[in-house]
Amino acid sequence: MAQLIVALDVPNADEAERLIDELYELDVIFKIGMESLYGYPERIFSYCEARDVRYFVDAKLHDIPRTVGAAIKALVRPGAHIINVHALGGIEMMRAAVEAASERASELGLSAPHIFAVTILTSHAAADLGELGLQGGPGENVTRLAALARDSGCAGVVCSAHEVRDLKSFFGEDFLTLTPGIRPSGSAHGDQKRVMTPAMAVEAGADYLVVGRPITEAPNPFEAARAILDEMHAHADHV
Ligand code: C5P
Repeated sequence: MAQLIVALDVPNADEAERLIDELYELDVIFKIGMESLYGYPERIFSYCEARDVRYFVDAKLHDIPRTVGAAIKALVRPGAHIINVHALGGIEMMRAAVEAASERASELGLSAPHIFAVTILTSHAAADLGELGLQGGPGENVTRLAALARDSGCAGVVCSAHEVRDLKSFFGEDFLTLTPGIRPSGSAHGDQKRVMTPAMAVEAGADYLVVGRPITEAPNPFEAARAILDEMHAHADHV
């Protein structure tokens, strides 16, 4: 069953805490991304832990292996269900992340968070990749980077829902996919280019759906999240 992750992309801790309170009973996972991680890290971690919610640290780490391993060790805490790195950091860096997560978790007596690797950002379309010097389209690049992530021991990858079917057929159902760029039909795309509806992402086989603005900017975030969960559940019954 796919799970919903709500991105806490709001500028201050009061707003983030209000969102957690509002959405708490829906049992979603919360995403602590750069805005909250750099803006108000201690408050967001403490609040998630006080409310006993699961969270995904969207740190998108990309540095030399030792530095990434050390950062992962600092991020392993109770409640940290997923932490991510950039696949473009390479196989040694991803391995260092996976090893650091499991070492630190066993020191703390916790279960190790899943390490996910970001493949190609969902705000990138084919033309943006050429500009960066990457040959081929998003699909080919995502598959190549996902193979490195799998070989490094990552639990799965962050990709667009468009790539999920291929990844599941190449790497198997157990290699997990986490998909941002989810837009309920009729909602604004913002800066996202490779988007899909919640129903389509679930049908494609995505394991985690990340949704930010369609929930956080909705007049009623609880109703917006509940509608997305209803759509996900309705389609899961048909998969
Ligand atoms: O508001 P929206 O639904 O576009 O939010 C998507 C979230 O997922 C943002 O926090 C963004 O940083 C994150 N993300 C993404 N694309 C990736 C990885 C993470 O949009 N490839």
